Amino acid sequence: MNAGELEGLFREKFGSGDYRSFFAPGRINLIGEHTDYNGGHVFPCAITYGTYALASKRSDRMLRMYSVNFPDKGIVECPLDDLSYQTEHDWANYPKGMIAALKQRGFLIEEGLDLLIYGNIPNGAGLSSSASIELVTGVMLESLFELKIDRIELVKLGQIVENQYIGVNSGIMDQFAIGMGKKACGMLLDCNTLQYRYAPIHLEHHVIVIMNTNKRRELAASKYNERRQECEDALKILQEKVPVQSLGELSMETFNQYAVSIADETVRKRARHAVSENERTIYALEALEKNDLYTFGELMNASHRSLRDDYEVTGTELDALVEAAWKQNGVIGARMTGAGFGGCAIAIVERGSVCDFLEKVGQSYLKAVGYEASFYIADIGDGACEIELGVHI
Ligand code: GLA
Repeated sequence: MNAGELEGLFREKFGSGDYRSFFAPGRINLIGEHTDYNGGHVFPCAITYGTYALASKRSDRMLRMYSVNFPDKGIVECPLDDLSYQTEHDWANYPKGMIAALKQRGFLIEEGLDLLIYGNIPNGAGLSSSASIELVTGVMLESLFELKIDRIELVKLGQIVENQYIGVNSGIMDQFAIGMGKKACGMLLDCNTLQYRYAPIHLEHHVIVIMNTNKRRELAASKYNERRQECEDALKILQEKVPVQSLGELSMETFNQYAVSIADETVRKRARHAVSENERTIYALEALEKNDLYTFGELMNASHRSLRDDYEVTGTELDALVEAAWKQNGVIGARMTGAGFGGCAIAIVERGSVCDFLEKVGQSYLKAVGYEASFYIADIGDGACEIELGVHI
């Protein structure tokens, strides 16, 4: 889709070409997986794939919403005065949830909207299309209704929508990366305090390849919640020994000292991942700041092994992709990214080896799994904002 096509669609659906345009990216997480809800560190970045919103205020109190990605749903209509979750509204529950959350916090949204959404994040790939649509709605409302919202507050509202309105119990990482992203930078975020730091990513001779398993992420939400619960169980036991509020406050050394008190081996492994991954994330930033890409890559590989063996969220497909990637020339490191159970992995690959990499990993994956993987080159982009459509897309 280009700007002209989107504009044409907006005119066709809403009868006017008078709109403003907004964009929110998707995200990849470089390292720090399943640490956000454990009060640890994450190191994500925003990518240049994302969600576009074309919107204009109406004079009445109706919301009329159309998604280019779900044409069979047609224009979803809903009054501003009943923003309750409706299963049949499908994708449109995300913008509705965001509008409801802002209204609930006292922000004045007194007119309806015509809203056209278009996302070019690969579908269901675990690159946070849901947080992206939440945040694109957030910045759109902020601009159209001239709301004064602190960006971190908007990020937190996105998480509240995800947790309470959509019903997915995720952490803060996705909304944060999408709301706060910065071109060519990763963000080290302490999820306990929300203190963060941008770290420039100068890959020069390397690129980040996103590898999509194309596996449907079935049961992902229930397994995600199960992992969260196991970590909470571990924390409760450890809190009888050490005065901490979260697993993110523990060093590996302290964890190892008290790990025996966790009798259940599975629970112990889950906690070990949360603690070791948090340490790796901090070391990874140090390595990057010293321009030591090789150590960074090693830490990525160790992260995947821990997610595979201790956290058990990788599965055949992600393992097949990442293990094939590890074997290729010119690969600095590779790991799954996001929640796991399917979705995407990332690899840092030498520019000159990319063609060979794609061919060999593609073949190896097809042989192991029986269907094809998809590959994209990730560019690290800015966070959610108003855009000039013709310049951006
Ligand atoms: C999903 C969640 C995030 C985070 C990751 C795992 O993307 O939305 O909050 O927990 O999984 O790191």
